[in-house]
Amino acid sequence: MKKSRILGVGHYVPEKIVTNDDLAKIINTNDNWIVERTGIKQRHWFTPGVDTVTSLAKNASEMALKRAGVAASEIDFIVFATITPDYFIPGNGVLLQRELGMDTIGALDIRNACSGFIYALSIADQFIKTGMYKKILVVGAEIQSSALDISDEGRSSAVIFADGAGAAVLGAVENDQPGILSTHLHSQGEYAEELYCKDPGSSREVRLSPELIASGSFNLTMNGNAVFKHAVVRFMEVINEALEANKMDKSAIDLLVPHQANLRISQYVQSKLELPDEKVFNNIMHMGNTTAGTIPIALSEAWEQGKIKEGDLICLAAFGSGFTWASALLHW
Ligand code: UT7
Repeated sequence: MKKSRILGVGHYVPEKIVTNDDLAKIINTNDNWIVERTGIKQRHWFTPGVDTVTSLAKNASEMALKRAGVAASEIDFIVFATITPDYFIPGNGVLLQRELGMDTIGALDIRNACSGFIYALSIADQFIKTGMYKKILVVGAEIQSSALDISDEGRSSAVIFADGAGAAVLGAVENDQPGILSTHLHSQGEYAEELYCKDPGSSREVRLSPELIASGSFNLTMNGNAVFKHAVVRFMEVINEALEANKMDKSAIDLLVPHQANLRISQYVQSKLELPDEKVFNNIMHMGNTTAGTIPIALSEAWEQGKIKEGDLICLAAFGSGFTWASALLHW
C-alpha cells in the first residue's frame, strides 16, 4: 500500500490589509482589546472585483505546484475546502480545475469550516492509500469578510475572520517514506448554531428576500465564549488521539500547526503539551482567522521560514463550526 506525502505547499492572501486601527474607525473596538483577546494585529480582506475565492486558490495552488515540482496536468484530483464558495452552486473545486487549465479530473468540495483543510487532507490521503489517485491538490480558501456583521453587535466575529488561501500537493510515496501517519475527524452537530451562517438556507419558501437580508441572517453568527470553551478541550483530545494512535509522545512533535482561531487557544494547547515556542507555529497576528485557509497558509509560511524540515513530525489540529474538529500527524 502507498502512503501520501505533502510534496509542496503555497499560499496567497489578498493585498488589502485591514489593521485593528482600521476596524476601530468603523466599529466600537480598539487595538488593545483585539490583541489581548485574540492576538490579531492585522488581517487581509478581499477587494471586490479583484479577488475571488477561485483567484486566491489559484495563486496558492500555483505556488504549491511550483514548490512541489509538479505540473497542473499531473494532478489527478482536487479536494477544495471552503464554506465561502464563489457560487452557491456549483462548488469551488470545478472553478479551480477550470482556472488551472486541468484535464477533466474530479473535483470535490468540503464544507467543514475551520476543520475543512484537515478533512480535505484526510480524504485525499484515503484516495492515495487505496491507489486510486497519485497526485492530489488539496486547497483551503475563504472570503469571510463579505459575510461579517460589521457593526458593534457583530464585533467579536468581525475582528477575527479574514480572507486567504493555502494549498498542498499530495503525492503517493512508498510506505517506508515520510508522509501522513494518520488523520482523526470528529463532529458534534448539537452545537451547529453556536457558529453558523443561517442563510441562504434551502428549507425556506423564499431563499432570498429584503426581509431576510435585513434580519442579518446572511451574516456569520458566533457565540465566541461557547466556541472557545469547547475548542480548548477538543484540541487537546484530538491531538492526544493522534499521538496515541501512533504510539508517540507529545515531546516527539517538531512543529504543531494549530488552526488559527485565537492566539489564546493556541497558547493554552501549547502549555498543556509543554511545547517550547519554536515548536508551535502561529501567524494569526498578521493573518487573522481564515477558516479552512489557516492551516495550509500557516504550513506554507512555516516552510518558507525554514521551520519545517524534511522528516520533521508535524501535528495539525483544528476546531470550528459544526462543531467539527480534526487532527493529522505526518512526517514532512
Ligand atoms: O475558527 C472557528 C472557531 N472560532 C473560535 O475558536 C473563536 C473562539 N472564541 C474567541 O476567540 C473569543 O470568544 C472571542 C475573541 C470571539 C471573544 O473573546 P471573549 O474573551 O470570549 O470576549 P466576550 O465575547 O466574552 O466579550 C467580553 C467583552 C464583552 O463586553 P462586556 O459584556 O464584558 O461589557 C463584549 O461586548 O468584550 C466585548 N467585546 C468587544 N470589545 C471590543 C466583544 N468583542 C469586542 C471587540 N472590541 N471586538
